[in-house]
Amino acid sequence: MRPPLLIANWKMNMFREEAKAYCQELHSALVQSPSLAKRVAWILIPPLTALDILKPFQKGLYSLGAQNCHWEKGGAYTGEISPFMLADVGCRYVIAGHSERRMHFGESDEVVGRKVATIVEAGLVPILCIGEQWAERERGETLQKIERQLLEGLRGVKKGGEMVVAYEPVWAIGSGKTPSAEEIADIHRAIRQILCAKFSPAWGNQASVVYGGSVHSQNAAQFASRPEVNGFLVGGASLKVKEFLAIAGAFRWRVPAKS
Ligand code: 13P
Repeated sequence: MRPPLLIANWKMNMFREEAKAYCQELHSALVQSPSLAKRVAWILIPPLTALDILKPFQKGLYSLGAQNCHWEKGGAYTGEISPFMLADVGCRYVIAGHSERRMHFGESDEVVGRKVATIVEAGLVPILCIGEQWAERERGETLQKIERQLLEGLRGVKKGGEMVVAYEPVWAIGSGKTPSAEEIADIHRAIRQILCAKFSPAWGNQASVVYGGSVHSQNAAQFASRPEVNGFLVGGASLKVKEFLAIAGAFRWRVPAKS
């Protein structure tokens, strides 16, 4: 069985010195505890300015990712970075369609879909973020919203490679509020059903569906106890190594006991 994904999205945080101290602490914790190192697949997604700081500490312990990209391979797009360039600097994952990008930078479903297609073309793994606003949830439109975001977001993806979908209810991000573990499990099941029905059962069944939104060490275990939850996309709580390590501990039950 593939290990759950534990993804740190540092957002626009961490100067290079802070990133270095973080990696030193994380690296020594993982080296000291091989069982913890193997409990999850560790993925660090720093701001681009810290990527080269994280690389020397990697040593097979974690993968690297980027928080955003452009949808073209290259060209006259001042200030932008293409997924091919991210591959060139050692990224394996790229977040597409984070709600903060949809909200603050006006990214439409169409733009997100183009980004996902180019991420796959570059040989990288997209982490497609989807999720409803509070008002949509109140109106009972959550499933409609996630279905639309999935269909549009994956429109251009032709092959059935590795895929991560992050269910991140917008109202849960940075708010301290979360859906219940049962609600999360229901939505994750629905996401997998849509992937299987609208794309291919083989692909849909192997995709990872992770949860994000106010995950921390105190609530992680209840979500991790659901087999539908294939990992977490963590914002604020990923900025402190001890907290991030404690979140990995929530997946303890998934690892077969060894003597
Ligand atoms: P928080 O964990 O800070 O709520 O952020 C979640 C998120 O947006 C991860 O991408």
